[in-house]
Amino acid sequence: MKSAVIVGIGSYLPPTVVTNADLSARLDTSDEWIRTRTGMSVRHVVEPGDATSDLAVEAGRRALASAGGGGVDALILATTTPDRQVPPTAPEIATRLGLGTGAAFDLSAACAGFLYGLSCAAGLIAAGAARRVLLIGADAFTTMVDPDDRATVVLFGDAAGAVVLRAGRADEPGAIGMPVLGSDGSLADLIQVPAGGSRSRSTAPPSKQPDPGDVYFRMNGRETFRHAVCRMSEASRQAVEQAGWDLADVDRLCAHQANLRILAAVADELGFAPERQLSNIAEVANTAVASLPTLLAHSAADGSLRAGHRVLLTAFGGGLSWGAATLTWPDLPRTAPTP
Ligand code: ACO
Repeated sequence: MKSAVIVGIGSYLPPTVVTNADLSARLDTSDEWIRTRTGMSVRHVVEPGDATSDLAVEAGRRALASAGGGGVDALILATTTPDRQVPPTAPEIATRLGLGTGAAFDLSAACAGFLYGLSCAAGLIAAGAARRVLLIGADAFTTMVDPDDRATVVLFGDAAGAVVLRAGRADEPGAIGMPVLGSDGSLADLIQVPAGGSRSRSTAPPSKQPDPGDVYFRMNGRETFRHAVCRMSEASRQAVEQAGWDLADVDRLCAHQANLRILAAVADELGFAPERQLSNIAEVANTAVASLPTLLAHSAADGSLRAGHRVLLTAFGGGLSWGAATLTWPDLPRTAPTP
């Protein structure tokens, strides 16, 4: 059976930056609170009118270039913030990248979307339905948070990251171990945007109109924190066992950059010293689905992730949904620093 092998990577951050000082100048918060509670200092944000596809196209272009050019048989866009509810965003990205009329679809698994996307790409390749797949994780989360809610607006930034996968052997560097995935819908309300879906639409009669605030992202931070640590640790153990590794064999932990304290708790639970952890949370904050591919791209560019490193990926988000996967980092052409 063919495995999915990473042969190209790219990422993109929009140029506009919002610092903790910018946020404290207009909200009841402080640089000290944000840094000590989250580990974040800076986030990149899209300009008004820009959308997820604008980020995704740039990251996709860079990943294709890193893979040496050429087309793909399928494009998967993992995102929480599609440009529009209808149509899906992926076909437009494929067209803008000049990829022709092959399969292109959106995948929704919140912040675990990149791992669900890897699983999907691996499945297409294993089934012989695709030989090369472009997987993009992109989110413009700042378009969805309430700009006046200090509890959420400080947490998020916008970004996109992408990988090109080709059919190959399971023992090649870059081959993805089939991801361990999980979900728990009994906790769906912990992380949500109440309005905009079929449950609460703006086309409803006046008596059933959603509250104006329901268009914004909401999260029960404290509860989410607890589940994030538990699920990422558990999935990580399973993925490492499935790969036939021990946790001590892993050179780099690449975990969803949701909160530095969550990362510390997961690392502590799994026994990872700081030098074995990758992190860019201070510079980009939580970029949702883009978090993992952006972290891989940044770490490969700054040399903290090198060819031959055994990598453990893990992520957690709304749904609830989570996952973990392993791979040995391949020898890719050095990617340009972003943006
Ligand atoms: N500045 C100052 N004070 C604040 C801010 C802020 N920006 N935000 C909240 N506070 C206050 C609260 O109002 C509260 O005040 P009170 O004690 O007077 O009521 C106090 O700080 C503590 O609030 P908590 O919510 O308990 O703070 P906590 O330490 O839990 O940190 C946070 C909040 C950062 C959201 C944390 O809970 C967290 O990171 N949770 C998990 C997030 C996560 O896992 N996300 C991943 C999935 S979702 C996704 O990635 C899309």
